[in-house]
Parts: sequence; structure tokens; C-alpha cells
Amino acid sequence: MAEFFRGRRLRRTAALREMVRENELRAQDLIMPYFVVDTGDATFRKPISSMPGQFQLSLQEFEKQVGKAVKNGLRGIILFGIPKKKDPAGTEGYAQDGIVQRAVRLCKQRWPELVVITDVCLCEYTDHGHCGLVRKERGIATVENDATLELLARTAVSHAEAGADIVAPSDMMDGRVMAIREALDEAGFTEVPVMSYAVKYASAFYGPFREAAESAPQFGDRKTYQMDPANSREALREATADVLEEADFLMVKPAGPYLDIIRMVRDEFDLPVAAYQVSGEYSMIMAAAANGWVNGDAVALESLLGIKRAGADIIISYFTEDLLERGLVK
Ligand code: PBG
Repeated sequence: MAEFFRGRRLRRTAALREMVRENELRAQDLIMPYFVVDTGDATFRKPISSMPGQFQLSLQEFEKQVGKAVKNGLRGIILFGIPKKKDPAGTEGYAQDGIVQRAVRLCKQRWPELVVITDVCLCEYTDHGHCGLVRKERGIATVENDATLELLARTAVSHAEAGADIVAPSDMMDGRVMAIREALDEAGFTEVPVMSYAVKYASAFYGPFREAAESAPQFGDRKTYQMDPANSREALREATADVLEEADFLMVKPAGPYLDIIRMVRDEFDLPVAAYQVSGEYSMIMAAAANGWVNGDAVALESLLGIKRAGADIIISYFTEDLLERGLVK
């Protein structure tokens, strides 16, 4: 009689392990972020120092790079724009010929099959770097919720007009999924889904991104709109609100330090769940790998598999392009 569990039986050979493997990373799970810069210099290609291997790209350089990635099996991208000039209302964010709008048009022309997601937020376009309109009263600055909604809706519609397949609001204003959904429907874009950054924490892991997108807040922080990392029940309230407002995807962000939240959202809701492995998660792995402290490829793959295992259907990750290029994910 067997008296203890022999788990090793099914781990004996690679073929057996593969046969009983429960989760797998596939090319269609991964989304690559790009930072596109509005510049007259077609050769502009600036390394982001805090994110080794990532660049700010001119439209022309972006076209070259995505072309190569698509050949390597890239299925989806998310776009961030760096405008020529910023102002208090972030007008370049919803300009018809804004940099993201132009990048989307280019993508849909060149690669109709590529899933093009746009980040909908004001912070890359406002001079103060906040995700909404700022009102100052007696020296106290507040990010205004309701006045911002209209601008977010306008941004989303301008992305849809350019041909975006999915719009992804990341601002964390209350009611923005509803505002965007209504505006899209009114403009005739009933078929454009909203991928809501439903559960977005006020995370220190966004540090490198703010260099990449030049979107660091010029005063204060984002804690009055992004969530407190200490909270998990609040994630359910945020996600419930977005489901009621007709979001099509729910996103959790960051990913690695919030695997419990990904699992919770997966179990509680039946919408597709996306997770964003953010800049700081990427940079930490890259830094440790550069020092020879960890095997970078193995750790990158394991971190992504962990996110998948936690329940994410889709993962936004800066590792995407490289993993596909080197055939580490197929
Ligand atoms: C815009 C936005 C941010 C990220 C995605 N969209 C930055 C922020 O909220 O401060 C972060 C992505 C990353 O760190 O990789 N609001």
C-alpha cells in the first residue's frame, strides 16, 4: 500500500511534465507597449534609461520596429504618446492628428490584423502631469473628476475614429467607463470595446514609465484617484462599477505584486481579465539580470507565467517583443 504521495511520478520526464502542464504562455496572450513621440526627426530613437531595451520612437522608427515584431508573431500592442507640447487640458491627447491617432492610422493601414489598443489618459498630455483637469483653490489643487470625463470620452472617440480596436482608460476617474461607452456609441462605435484599467493601484512600480512617457506629476501624487495598495475588497467595488458601466475587459495593474487581486477578479467576474506587468516590474528583472544575479529569460518567463496562473487572460508586458523575437514564446 502506498503510504505517501509520490508527486515526482509525473515530473520524471520532460514529456510527462509537458503533458500535465496546467498553464502556458502563448503569443496571443501578450501585448507590447510602445511610446511614440511627436517629432520632426524621423530617425528619433531614444533609449529609456530606466527601462533597458525600451525606446521612445518617432512614427517612422515605430513603423520599422512593429513591422519586425509582427513578423515575429506579435498580435497586440498598446500605444502611449508623447506630444510636442503639453497644456493644462491635455489637448494633444484628443487632437485628430495627435501622435497616437496618427500611429493608430498607420498600424491599421499596415497591419489590419494587429490588435491596436490605445491608453486613454490625460497625464502624458497635461503640463502638470495629472490624469485629469486640475483646479486650484486657495493653494489646494484638486484633480476634477466630472469635468475630466468629457475629455476622456473625446480622447477615446478620437482613437476609435483613427481605427483603434480597443480603448483602455487608465486615468481612474469615477464614471469614465460609462462616459466613454456613451460617447463611443453616440459616435457610432458600438463595436469598439473598452478595456478598463479597473483596478489600478497608486504604485511605486510606475516609476520608470513616468520617464518613458514624460508624465510624472509636477506636484502631489496620484493617491486621490489611484487605489491604496493596502486594499483588496476595494478592488471588487472598482471592478463591479466598471462591469455595470459596461466595460468589456477588466485590467489589474500592476501585476506581479497583485496576483491575489488578479485571482479575485478572475473568480468574481466573467469578463476577460488583463494584467499589466508594469515598468518597474520589468526594470527590476532587467537590472538583476544585467548584474548576473538571476537568469533574465527564465525569470521573465516565470513572472509572466505566474500572472497567467493567477488568472489573467491577457498580459501587457515590455518583455513581449523580445520573447517573440527569440522564440521563447510562440
Ligand atoms: C497613465 C498610465 C501609467 C501607466 C500606464 N498608463 C502611469 C501612471 O498611472 O502613473 C504605467 C505603466 C507602467 O508603469 O509600465 N495613467
